[in-house]
Amino acid sequence: MKQNNTFLLGIESSCDDTSVAILHNDRILSNSISTQKIHESYGGVVPELASRAHQQQIIPVVFDALKKANISMNQLDAICFTQGPGLMGSLVVGTSFAKGLALSINKPLIAVNHMHGHILAHFIDEGQEKPSFPFLCLTVSGGHTQIVKVESGLKMEILGSTIDDAAGEAFDKIGKILGLKYPGGPILDRLAQTGDATKFTFSKPNIIDFNYSFSGLKTSVLYFIQKEVKLNPTFIEENLIDLCASVQATILDILFKKLIKAAEFTGIKNIAIAGGVSANSGLRQRLKSEGDKRNWKVFIPKFEYCTDNAAMIAMAGKFKFDEGVFATQSVSANPRLNFNGND
Ligand code: KG4
Ligand code: ZN
Repeated sequence: MKQNNTFLLGIESSCDDTSVAILHNDRILSNSISTQKIHESYGGVVPELASRAHQQQIIPVVFDALKKANISMNQLDAICFTQGPGLMGSLVVGTSFAKGLALSINKPLIAVNHMHGHILAHFIDEGQEKPSFPFLCLTVSGGHTQIVKVESGLKMEILGSTIDDAAGEAFDKIGKILGLKYPGGPILDRLAQTGDATKFTFSKPNIIDFNYSFSGLKTSVLYFIQKEVKLNPTFIEENLIDLCASVQATILDILFKKLIKAAEFTGIKNIAIAGGVSANSGLRQRLKSEGDKRNWKVFIPKFEYCTDNAAMIAMAGKFKFDEGVFATQSVSANPRLNFNGND
């Protein structure tokens, strides 16, 4: 049952962002994020450095979130944290901190699945219309690509997922091939906006059911670039915006082919996107235009709730809080946490 006047603290530390948020009912009072810049020079997240940075950041970020929300620790009703999936060393920092904090203020602990957090971010109240159940959510992040049938805040089913790379991984790996900084996704998005998406064509996978594959695309871009650069060493510089636009269009075609198929199969017309890649401007526009054509009601998250953040963890925690689903002090971080929460 929906509980009123509750204050929840959420902690997200699954990858390279240390984030803490305070949720009052379904409104966000603060959402503090410390993004780790240290990984940029390595071209990807270095797990050991990430967990050390979380250790340094977690206490200042907790205090910052409480201060911005203008509440004290003992006003909190529960502590929510990301149990998994993610990087072990990073998850352990958030999990241990959450356990210690819950114990010290004698409040319940709520373990949240990171992917549920991305999906349930749609329920953070920003005055917008929220999806009604059931809805389909295309969840696209750096580690996952899934089509999820969401029946309630606690009941969700994966209809399809990637068999190799995630969509965000495809953006980042292809970005690297094109010489872009890490993470390549947002940079590729920006460059693609002025490019010609029809200039280059790349192979698309032929995978059964509602599943995805992105590793073939990455390889086809790599071979194409190697061949062209041999003929013309400045090929990338001369064609960068068109390459970005063509790659992005191919990724979007792949994503939408299966999303449309899943919508037709289930008959569900409430369609949402979530996860870091849902910040992609092409994806957001394409969802609107596909939605107009197919009579879908579409749900696009606010930018700040696309990439990793603790607001979504607190919101997912609220669904558990309302049903009295709490974790015990024996809970542990789980880098491969099952989608349905069983560790
Ligand atoms: O959800 P997220 O913050 O972290 C994970 O849970 O993985 O997603 C990060 C991913 C990265 O691969 C990043 O390149 C991608 O989201 N991303 C984007 C954009 N913004 C973030 N990809 C394409 N276009 C964007 N605008
Ligand atoms: Zn994420």
